[in-house]
Amino acid sequence: MLRRSHTCGQLRDSDVGQTVTLNGWVHSYRGHGTGLVFIDVRDRFGLTQLVFDGEDSRKSILEAADKLRHEYVIAAKGKVRIRTGGENPKLATGKIEVVVEELEVLNKSETPPFLPDDNPQGGKLPNEELRLEHRYLDLRRPKMQQILGARAKALKVTRDYFYDNGFLEIETPILYKSTPEGAREFLVPSRHQPGEWYALPQSPQLFKQILMVAGADRYLQICRCFRDEDPRADRQAEFTQIDLEMSFVRREHVIEMMEGFVRRLWKEMCNYDVPPIKRMPYREAMEDYGIDRPDTRYDLKIKDISEIAAKADFGVFKDALAKGADRPRFNSGRGVVKALRVPGGAEKLTRKITDGYTEFVKGFGAGGAAVVKMNAQGVLETGIAKFIEPIKAELVAALGMQPGDTVFFLADTYSIATKAIGELRQKVARDMGIVPKPGAEGGPWNFLIVVDFPMFEKNKETGKWIAMHHPFTGPRDDQAEAFVNADVNDEVTIESIVSAGYDIVLNGQEIAGGSVRIHDGAVQGKVFQLLGMTPAQAQEKFSFLLKALQFGAPPHAGIAFGFDRLIMNFVGTDNIRDVIAFPKTQTGADLMTKTPSGVTPQQLKDLHVASTFVKPA
Ligand code: AMO
Repeated sequence: MLRRSHTCGQLRDSDVGQTVTLNGWVHSYRGHGTGLVFIDVRDRFGLTQLVFDGEDSRKSILEAADKLRHEYVIAAKGKVRIRTGGENPKLATGKIEVVVEELEVLNKSETPPFLPDDNPQGGKLPNEELRLEHRYLDLRRPKMQQILGARAKALKVTRDYFYDNGFLEIETPILYKSTPEGAREFLVPSRHQPGEWYALPQSPQLFKQILMVAGADRYLQICRCFRDEDPRADRQAEFTQIDLEMSFVRREHVIEMMEGFVRRLWKEMCNYDVPPIKRMPYREAMEDYGIDRPDTRYDLKIKDISEIAAKADFGVFKDALAKGADRPRFNSGRGVVKALRVPGGAEKLTRKITDGYTEFVKGFGAGGAAVVKMNAQGVLETGIAKFIEPIKAELVAALGMQPGDTVFFLADTYSIATKAIGELRQKVARDMGIVPKPGAEGGPWNFLIVVDFPMFEKNKETGKWIAMHHPFTGPRDDQAEAFVNADVNDEVTIESIVSAGYDIVLNGQEIAGGSVRIHDGAVQGKVFQLLGMTPAQAQEKFSFLLKALQFGAPPHAGIAFGFDRLIMNFVGTDNIRDVIAFPKTQTGADLMTKTPSGVTPQQLKDLHVASTFVKPA
């Protein structure tokens, strides 16, 4: 085999005159019928133009070149010269070409179902299912190779930073124990212990805490996590975390270390200097943006106008305000009316668009979104204008309304109105075209650290408390006493306890979440009790943790970054599947390997498992 001397992305005009050998795939082919053939040969590093020139080369080479087809694997040896047809400024190797003297076909290829081309004819990539089925071809696309490269680089920067800061990389088990931590788990039957099951970890949360008890001091793991949830644009059932834990620290120390990491990562990945990251309390996020991971790249703020709305004779407002409190701590015992002022909305948001918003907010449990427009003369328009007219002056003052504005009103219980208007805010921003493209393409990087989450939240359906971060998150230091003394039946107090959790948000996406942990067995026991676990159940599920906490657990805290999400930002995609070499579809399938798949009755028997599923005939 002719072994390569250079990669396909390496040669420059300074190499002119050298004899070189390239290995790679036939990317494109132009035969001019005049005894001249141009072939672009491609590898992970780039493309180089090969010339098969009847004059300089032996005739047999030209014949061999004529037989080359897309994706054949070749080795070509020849001389570098300045491109005779003029420079191609789009290619790093665009100044030169290689005049081939020797050609070896290392392997042929069937006609591929699609070409690994980022800009195919017609401008659209082949459909994703086809690409996932032939992932090896899709991954040959230069863009995908760039993504794999970015991912590898981010892994290295991550390791460098945390190793420099004394973190120890430690692996934790994949075959783990079923624990009620939040998401649905993937289960694995045990062959040795009939009827017993492993669960795949949703995260190494408890192992990393136990590693702190074990004296590891600073832990890092770039680990796979498994959650049997429905995939979304930025969610996979199997995903990667940068998982971190530190001993002898409080919230501020972790945040400081993580800001340092974010700064180093963005500097190395995109030469961007992250400014000091702003903190935002959860409550402010919910009040002003209607969501706990606000996208603050654009301004649109939400305002609670319940007081003013109470003065209007408008059934929609009245009904909402008469509703009970679903978050007593936040809405002082009644429903709310929230408003979103959209400057310039009167022109851009047509009737058709705003009518669509009613359906949109219904998806979040709201009855609809009331809308008024202020025309150029300052007159209120739309069907509900007459109800708003009497409170117009107060609204104008409260919201800063101006001619040309549209204002949306969401009137409901606190939770529904907040959620619906928060979602509507993001949709309106997209429709108004005011969301800048992420930083990879020149827009701003907008980081936020959200703090002061409530420790517990009531699940609407079950009426049970759930831990807002996870059950191992402690109360904020100044809340610890109130928590320990709180009566578990005192809902208002329980809801008012603020946790020591924190999230890092980038452009409206949660990229990391963590907290200061409970290192006291009694406090941990109280959390389990609030979550509805009897002491016996807590013992059964978490005895290992409760026991470890009794043997000198240091104060500790940590965080985990969603690694795939970081990469999505660096490479500018909103599809998480683009940044994972072998991702799964919406239904959790790997289309290339045809996973999941059936197993034999014998395999099930060995595992002591019987399936209740009967395949439809
Ligand atoms: P959490 O569940 O918030 O915390 O996860 C941490 C980060 O992981 C990312 N993430 C996901 N990315 C892709 N697909 C998913 N299904 C998915 N789920 C989460 C998010 C998120 O911010 N043990 C805690 C961390 C800790 O407290 O230290 C944990 O797992 O970016």
